[in-house]
Parts: sequence; structure tokens; C-alpha cells
Amino acid sequence: MKVKICKKNMKVIVCEDYEELSRQSAELIEKQIHLRPNSVLGLATGSTPIGTYRILAERNKTGVIDFSEITTVNLDEYYPISPTDPQSYRYFMNEQLFSKVNIDIDRTFVPDGSAVDPIKECIEYEERIDRLGGIDIQILGIGVNGHIGFNEPDLSLNAYTHLTDLTPSTIAVNSRFFKSEDDVPKKAITMGMASIFKARQIILLASGSSKTKAVTKVLEGDIDTSCPATLLNLHPNVIIICDRDCLPN
Ligand code: PGA
Repeated sequence: MKVKICKKNMKVIVCEDYEELSRQSAELIEKQIHLRPNSVLGLATGSTPIGTYRILAERNKTGVIDFSEITTVNLDEYYPISPTDPQSYRYFMNEQLFSKVNIDIDRTFVPDGSAVDPIKECIEYEERIDRLGGIDIQILGIGVNGHIGFNEPDLSLNAYTHLTDLTPSTIAVNSRFFKSEDDVPKKAITMGMASIFKARQIILLASGSSKTKAVTKVLEGDIDTSCPATLLNLHPNVIIICDRDCLPN
């Protein structure tokens, strides 16, 4: 592992491989839980945090960390989708983490993909984040196209939780989890950039060469809505945990 301080606000931890990346991010979350047992954790779905969740579940099982007072807030959810649909992010979180730790399920929040009024759901989701006092530590993945949450590349970005259209590139990438591209929901409810920025610390996880282009843009420091993750250069406390494969040679 190598740690580089690239800018005042950003630390980059370069790991040998995915397993080390998962250990590093689980360790940061563990530290946060020890520091504040009633922390609010901002969580992400996707392939990248799966290893982190596995390690957190193991550490919970062996009694090293306690989730009983933890609250979680997830970044996003497809729309429309039922929470019981195996492709929903609610289902993913239940499977990967919530069912495996001693968390109170009523304190786990994922946008409701079955909400009849998605706009109302967005407003209430944002209000909930505020009522919780903001997020202590937010885990983020990064899309091949540089999205964070479902804040997709665009000429402008939304500040708060909103309903958004998925880009063809995201639909194509995510179709690996569905029978066909046509089955991928075309919309999602996602926290906006300002919602994410309410987190006191952000951990961006990136693994593999498909992410090199997007991560390189973040590290170059230019801020550009065509790669939403570059806005992280404006947040005061970001840790990027990546593996060697995702950095340029
Ligand atoms: P991944 O997704 O972890 O499956 O690569 C990340 C993302 O699209 O945000």
C-alpha cells in the first residue's frame, strides 16, 4: 500500500489489489464506528464495495464492530423498482450487509423505488439526511463515465436528491445484472452533489482498468460536469482508495 497526499483535501491510497482495497475501506469505516457508535454511514451499491461489506460483516460477527446504533443512508435506487426485486439496490444492501450484521433495519435508508410520487420521495429523502445531522462517512463508487451515485455526466448537475434519467452508457454497463438492456430501469432516484457533499468525509473506491480514465480526471484536478466525480476536488476531506490496475501506467 502506498499513501499519497496529492492535494490538501485529497489523500490517495494505492492498494496492490482489490482485497487490500476492501480491507483499507473496511478499516476506515470500523474506525468511524469505534469513534462514534451511532454514526451515520453513507453507503453505495455496485461491485466495488462488496468486499468492504463482506469484511464489515465478518468483523461484526467476531464482535469487533457493533452496528446496533448505526444509521445508514444509501446513495441511490433505480426507479421504478420494487424493494423486493432482486435487482433493486434495497435488495442488494439487505443481501450484502444488512442481513449479516446487527443493524436495526428501520435505521437503514434507501430511496424508495416504488414511491408513487418520486418527487415527494426525493424531497423527503433529502430532509431525512438533514434530520440525521448529515453523513459521517460516505462511500462512493465511480462509474466508467465518471458518475457518482447516479449523477450522470451532463452540462449541469443537480444539487439535491432528484429523479434522473440514466445515460445509455450506464444502462449498458449495468445491463450485466439484468436479462437484457431493455430490462434495466431508465431512471433512478439519486442523492445530488450537494447531498453527497454534506458528508464530513468521503471515501471513493475504484478498482480495475475500466476506471482509469475517470480516476485520472479526478486526480488531474480540473472540475468538469462531464465527469461528475471531478467535483470531489471541491470537498474538504476525500480519500480515494484504488488498486494499481486503475491508475495509469
Ligand atoms: P461498480 O459501479 O462498483 O459496479 O463498478 C460503480 C458505479 O457505477 O458507481
